[in-house]
Amino acid sequence: MKQLELSVVLAAGEGTRMKSTTPKVLHNIAGHSIIDHVLRATKPLGATELRVVVGASREAVEAHLKATAPETKIVIQAERNGTGHAAQLALEGAPATGTVLILAGDTPLLTTTTLQEFYAMHLSLGAEASVLTSIVPDPFGYGRIVRDVTDALEKIVEERDANLAEKEIDEINTGVYLFDIAALRAALTGLKKGNAQGELYLTDVIGLIKAAGQSVVGIRSNDYTETLGINDRSQLAECSAIMRDRINDSYMRAGVTIVDPTTTWIDLGVEISPDVTIFPGCAISGSTRIASGSFIGPRTTLHNVIVDSGASVLESWAADSSIGPEAKVGPFSYIRPGTQLAAGTKVGAYVEIKNSTVGEGSKVPHLSYVGDATIGAGSNIGAATIFVNYDGVEKHQTIVGNDVRIGSDTMLVAPVTIGDGAYTAAGSVITEDVPAGAIGVARAKQRNVLGWVLRRRANTKSAESAKKAGATDGPQTAQGEE
Ligand code: UD1
Ligand code: MG
Repeated sequence: MKQLELSVVLAAGEGTRMKSTTPKVLHNIAGHSIIDHVLRATKPLGATELRVVVGASREAVEAHLKATAPETKIVIQAERNGTGHAAQLALEGAPATGTVLILAGDTPLLTTTTLQEFYAMHLSLGAEASVLTSIVPDPFGYGRIVRDVTDALEKIVEERDANLAEKEIDEINTGVYLFDIAALRAALTGLKKGNAQGELYLTDVIGLIKAAGQSVVGIRSNDYTETLGINDRSQLAECSAIMRDRINDSYMRAGVTIVDPTTTWIDLGVEISPDVTIFPGCAISGSTRIASGSFIGPRTTLHNVIVDSGASVLESWAADSSIGPEAKVGPFSYIRPGTQLAAGTKVGAYVEIKNSTVGEGSKVPHLSYVGDATIGAGSNIGAATIFVNYDGVEKHQTIVGNDVRIGSDTMLVAPVTIGDGAYTAAGSVITEDVPAGAIGVARAKQRNVLGWVLRRRANTKSAESAKKAGATDGPQTAQGEE
């Protein structure tokens, strides 16, 4: 196809209707800003140059573009005098001839395929200006496409400037245009602010180009959902849902089972292999990769997590971590950044793990906190064990060897090392290293003060039951004292 000289994305608007301190084009859909989606669709058209017009909150938008799309040239529209004014600025220093694609920064559902088809049509019709249009169920707010009796494009009328008959028109301007650069330049000089918003409307160039005896065409797109623009939060939610469905459909076609696609939110950039099953209520984002045979959810969040084959992650939250093959996580596990769970590990209910490695086949089944630890293979961490990693000022490491048995309710006060094959007694507060094969016992010896309840809690239900069980209030000695 003929080389496109220039692509221009208009993104200088205030986005007033979003009622947000975040610039409109930086709001998020499927893990990416709205403008990222527009640029992703536009780039494959391969224009010689890509320009983005920024204005409102431009520092934030510029910083974002520098980080995510450094090849774009930024054009600054200091004063927002409308889309026509933005186009005038975008053309400064552009080639004198050739074709320019102009589109809005707030239409994130547009696809490259649609843009390519639009370009091919524009070339084959040989028009000086082409507008991508679409027939929508609710045209409110959009510019209306006014056609003459022969169905030829006549002009575009904005909502606020439209008369009653024009408001009835359900064919709208998508805000995507292709122009012959010279024809556009000439028409832009003729723009006037005589409209309801007192702005220079890019849409008015259509009438001007036509009046100059050049050809303008309105090309209808097939899928109106692609051309939805985002101006407020309810349109943001509507577009997010459409993007979610697109992403889920493509995974399901590729062999992923998604039990309830309406409650499964997978960001662009995630990779999920065939034969993964995702139960309802999951949010999967960032650079997460999930291998075949895994089960995720219900109600699970994964952000930047590697899940290896055959693992299951049930009712849990995990970020910046890896979950090994055949590992079992959840329900109700909290896997924080820096956690590496090896093959066949188990992390159970109400367990929090951060910045720790759990070796092959090891288990942390119940009610524990594991922080800054390295646990070897084949070890079991008893219920309610706490890795005491923080002394109030600094974090310290704990090392647990292979085939260790940590008794329930052990406090492992870091820095501390438990040798291979060692045990700790339940309820111990371990402050010294435990050598391989030893048992660490660190708790007070138990003593029973006989008859205490009968003497000190007389006339209670406890005393009554104790008496029935044969307890007496003497002798006043303790059992267990040596
Ligand atoms: C615009 C079109 C409308 C079309 C709709 C499609 C005009 C006058 N109207 O209306 O026909 O149906 O898009 O979504 O063009 N912008 C600038 N500088 C400005 C003003 C706007 O860069 O001075 C940018 C905005 O950031 C936005 C785009 O241009 O990305 C469109 O502006 P917006 O205010 O959203 O126009 P709409 O009312 O949606
Ligand atoms: Mg808009």
